[in-house]
Amino acid sequence: MSKILVTGGTGYIGSHTVVELHNAGYEVVIVDDLSNSNIKILTQLHAITGKWFDFQEIDLQDDRAVQEFAEQNKDITGIIHFAASKAVGESVQKPLKYYRNNFYGLINLLTSFNSKIDFVFSSSCTVYGQPDSLPVTEAAPVKKAESPYGNTKQIAEEILEETAAVTPELRVIALRYFNPVGAHETALIGELPNGVPANLVPFITQSAIGKRGPITVYGNDYDTPDGSAIRDYIHVVDLAKAHVAAVKRLAENKTSSGYEVFNIGTGRGSSVLEIIAAFEKVNGEKLNYNIGPRRAGDVVQIYGDVQKSNDELGWKAQLDLNEMMRSAWEWEKYIKANPFE
Ligand code: NAD
Ligand code: WQD
Repeated sequence: MSKILVTGGTGYIGSHTVVELHNAGYEVVIVDDLSNSNIKILTQLHAITGKWFDFQEIDLQDDRAVQEFAEQNKDITGIIHFAASKAVGESVQKPLKYYRNNFYGLINLLTSFNSKIDFVFSSSCTVYGQPDSLPVTEAAPVKKAESPYGNTKQIAEEILEETAAVTPELRVIALRYFNPVGAHETALIGELPNGVPANLVPFITQSAIGKRGPITVYGNDYDTPDGSAIRDYIHVVDLAKAHVAAVKRLAENKTSSGYEVFNIGTGRGSSVLEIIAAFEKVNGEKLNYNIGPRRAGDVVQIYGDVQKSNDELGWKAQLDLNEMMRSAWEWEKYIKANPFE
């Protein structure tokens, strides 16, 4: 049984990936500093899988702690590296927090796990900015980052590509996620935003449950069919499964080079107004929303070309918008009834 380290494994995408790795027969060890997640997730993971996962509370910025952990866990064959700070707006206010956390963590891992290791990295479609053509392929140019957060993803990709080029023991797959939404079918795990959600779907669910006021649609005068901005929303469980596919591809030596990049989306774009309509229809809930000005830094539309992921990774998104909106709402209701604190 291969042992996989999941950094950020108590976080939103990490926790769903732990479940899918377990279902696929992998042994999992979780490292997280709980800076943006709750220890109760381990109980939730136990309720879903029947397994208490090995968990180490470590801040990956602590080079000694990471070194010690690596020495004690020499049987780890693969790392899925989720742990990072991820709030775009906060990164503009606190750039050094983002450069420190997102780079030190990555560099400490690469330095400490210096024997043969398979590495899967959480990248983002944010590296494309506003693409020149759609759907955007992996070959599209990386555009100047709109935020320090986005810049950490671009530079982290470069760090990994350059390191893999001179390190035969290191093989890397960077997954560029589009917009992850939704929750596990059990509603026992899901997204737990800190404070007022900046992202659309958690704002919708919190507004629907009465925790927030009306939703503001950021712009209805874009050059799109209904005037609102378009994104490629991907169910978090599909996204989690893409990580299992990446780990498998690396372990089976199927990679074409030491560093590969894949788009992880559905290949379909949905507008903000379509998301609102889908949520209302599938959940039978009326949403309260207003049209507001455009949000600074937003791209007009983006959705991914997922041919390469389908063909080479052997992965394809299965869950549709209805399931994304249904599961996001079930999770919001669950966490209201069963708060972690
Ligand atoms: P999350 O905040 O829910 O999970 C990240 C986890 O990492 C948290 O549990 C946090 O406590 C932990 N962490 C942060 N810094 C750490 C450190 N120094 N040491 C140990 N643990 C640390 O975020 P998420 O949405 O699950 O995102 C996971 C990854 O995917 C991130 O790298 C993020 O940038 C990337 N990503 C997310 C999205 C998205 O929209 N959610 C989109 C594209 C890429
Ligand atoms: C989606 C759409 C908004 C909130 C961000 C990061 C990106 C990636 C995913 C990590 C946009 C609109 C939103 C609201 C709205 N994360 N919206 N009202 O901006 O595509 O991407 O998260 O890598 O890097 O930038 O996602 O969910 O914030 O917005 O109208 O209250 O919803 O304008 O068109 P975004 P989002």
